[in-house]
Amino acid sequence: MDAPAGGRVGCVELDEVLRRRRAVRRFTDEPVDRRVLDAVVAAGVSGPTAGGSQGRSLLVVTTSGDRDRFWRATSDDVDAPDAWLTGVMTAPAVVVCLSDPSAYVERYARPDKQRARPDLGPDPSDASAWPVPWWDVDAGASGLLVLLAAVDAGLGGCLVGVPPRRWPRVREAFGVPDPQRLTAAVVLGHPAPDPPRSRRRPPVGAVVHDGAHGRPWVPGAPQAPGSPGSGRA
Ligand SMILES: Cc1cc2nc3c(=O)[nH]c(=O)nc-3n(C[C@H](O)[C@H](O)[C@H](O)COP(=O)(O)O)c2cc1C
Repeated sequence: MDAPAGGRVGCVELDEVLRRRRAVRRFTDEPVDRRVLDAVVAAGVSGPTAGGSQGRSLLVVTTSGDRDRFWRATSDDVDAPDAWLTGVMTAPAVVVCLSDPSAYVERYARPDKQRARPDLGPDPSDASAWPVPWWDVDAGASGLLVLLAAVDAGLGGCLVGVPPRRWPRVREAFGVPDPQRLTAAVVLGHPAPDPPRSRRRPPVGAVVHDGAHGRPWVPGAPQAPGSPGSGRA
């Protein structure tokens, strides 16, 4: 979709974006408008970061030379690709979601955070100090925001993993400094026509718990007594 002159590129309500989003792994050869990409990547870095550390960032790969370098850095099979690789390599843009654990360690070493969370220590590889790697949480959220903004702009995409043993090659190819992690990559473009497929999303009640684990959330159920707006204490 072309960006309108006013600058707003999205045109879809959030519930429609959520409904439309699905993993897209094959794309047409239509390029992605630069202004659409502007909006998509801005959305990608609009989300929350732990402690406001801003320790996630995006590497945007768009030229054919850079895309070729990206796929060669991440795979040995570019010249004899399987169906999956053939599909994702048609993406005119790849947005790599990077995360920098050192930004989080620095942020949580400051006095305000040390008072609140003295358990979060100086070694990000210590899983007892950092049981939840917030750098990857934030970079993953960034990837999801990229996907949603892409759908909003009429594009499609899929979040894919980059095998860690390939990270050094990607770092070298694109000047990404260690210790940046390649938490995920999002392939983006105009979706190629796809045979219809069934969505394997579970019903909400199977994965959302209402006040106690195992008690299904029932869409449309009355407000529980004592919850705001229930009218009963
Ligand atoms: C963390 C994460 C990693 C993923 N890695 C891959 C991947 O490496 N290759 C791939 O084709 N899809 C990958 N996916 C996409 C999922 O397979 C896809 O989202 C899932 O099958 C659900 O389909 P839907 O997105 O259409 O709802 C990944 C998704 C997530 C959230």
